[in-house]
Amino acid sequence: MKLCMIGTGYVGLVSGVCFSDLGNTVYCVDKDKKKIELLNKCKVPIYEPGLEELIKKNFKQKRLIFTTDFKSAVEKADIIFICVGTPTNKNSNSANLNYVFQVANQLKKNIKKYKIVVTKSTVPVTTGDKIEKILVKQKNKKLVDVVSNPEFLREGEAIRDFVYPDRVVIGTNSKKANRILKNLYLPIIKKSSRYLHTSRRGAELIKYASNAFLATKISFINELANLCEQTNVDIKDISSGMGLDQRIGDRFLRAGPAYGGSCFPKDTRALIDTANKYKVDLSIIKSTVKSNNLRKIKLTKKIEKILNKKLKGKKITFLGVTFKPNTDDMREAASIPMIKYLNKKGCEVRYHDPSGEKKEFRNLKNVKYFKDISAACLKTDLIILHTEWNDFKLLNFKKLIKKKNFIVYDLRNIYSPTKMREMKIKYFAVGR
Ligand code: UGA
Repeated sequence: MKLCMIGTGYVGLVSGVCFSDLGNTVYCVDKDKKKIELLNKCKVPIYEPGLEELIKKNFKQKRLIFTTDFKSAVEKADIIFICVGTPTNKNSNSANLNYVFQVANQLKKNIKKYKIVVTKSTVPVTTGDKIEKILVKQKNKKLVDVVSNPEFLREGEAIRDFVYPDRVVIGTNSKKANRILKNLYLPIIKKSSRYLHTSRRGAELIKYASNAFLATKISFINELANLCEQTNVDIKDISSGMGLDQRIGDRFLRAGPAYGGSCFPKDTRALIDTANKYKVDLSIIKSTVKSNNLRKIKLTKKIEKILNKKLKGKKITFLGVTFKPNTDDMREAASIPMIKYLNKKGCEVRYHDPSGEKKEFRNLKNVKYFKDISAACLKTDLIILHTEWNDFKLLNFKKLIKKKNFIVYDLRNIYSPTKMREMKIKYFAVGR
């Protein structure tokens, strides 16, 4: 099949590359010339394990085409995927749909024969209806079917999530569009995963509901971790004990810092905003958002407590600053408010992240990036394990720090408190 991905951000690029790897011809369109130039040299603008290899392979086979030529890509494609961003609007919680509607208006001028237009961007329920309204202003209504096909790719695991999805959700009332899309996904839905055909609005809402539920699961375990700390119980036991109940499951029950990223914070806010418009009170999701915001403050206060409120001049080393491992993404990472606060309080903050230096901290006077992990840790007072990159899982703290008194605050519960105690390392973790 011939496909066109509009937008080569995270969703568009990963999905486009994976579709081409299944044998489809994929036109990846972006108005950002520099990005397209880069991609045409097989260089990847985002950090995603395995993506570069797949780009090289499919680009060589001429199944993967990167272009700024919207018109010709749309003309050639049977299915067009809208994959542009829907960030939170300034001064509100709502999703900014400008990019989505810009694409729809551009498509209106360029669709001359039957096409399926699929929204992969995360959009509030009823957005598909609005896109359809824009597109069916053409003479022939049958020229286009507007379908919702949300993505469930996790950064850092996106290729695996694409190839082995838990489910593929297709929202449309067009039998023809459903048949064609099922065919497109056939090579991967054969692999034991599930294909769900539902209404367009249903598919749009499934995406938000899923992200909001996972965010709630994380906030739930994070709050219980607070109770565990007061009652001397290990939160890992609670996660395992709860997770063994198949109705609950142990995934996304790992306590840690506040959840971040480009999706959970944005999508929980947007879902609340949508519900407000319909005068529905999503009180549980509101609590999740509140709890997550409070968590950033709570853990920063805990750092203060660990250092006996003497922050000035203290050397603090963050290991990992991204919102999760295997990505260079800093969006809504809990490390940002933490580091800013500690910097304001006069600490000397150093950080090392396998994905490199971060622009977020570039203008902060006493915050320094270290390419080398040993240099970042040398003679530090406090190590904060913020992101669970594999690089941080087998550290010899004494060798790295080369100093008698230091503290380790493990926000991802990577190390064993017992072993740390045996080694006489002052160690704090989350909920244990
Ligand atoms: C999330 C969803 O997991 C994907 O299914 C979805 O497609 C994607 O958003 C999206 O909407 O595009 P992602 O943002 O890449 O994916 O990251 P997650 O792996 O879900 O992690 C989100 C945050 O939760 C991270 O800060 C992570 O550290 C935190 N987390 C996750 C925990 O604190 N505990 C856990 O047990 C799991």
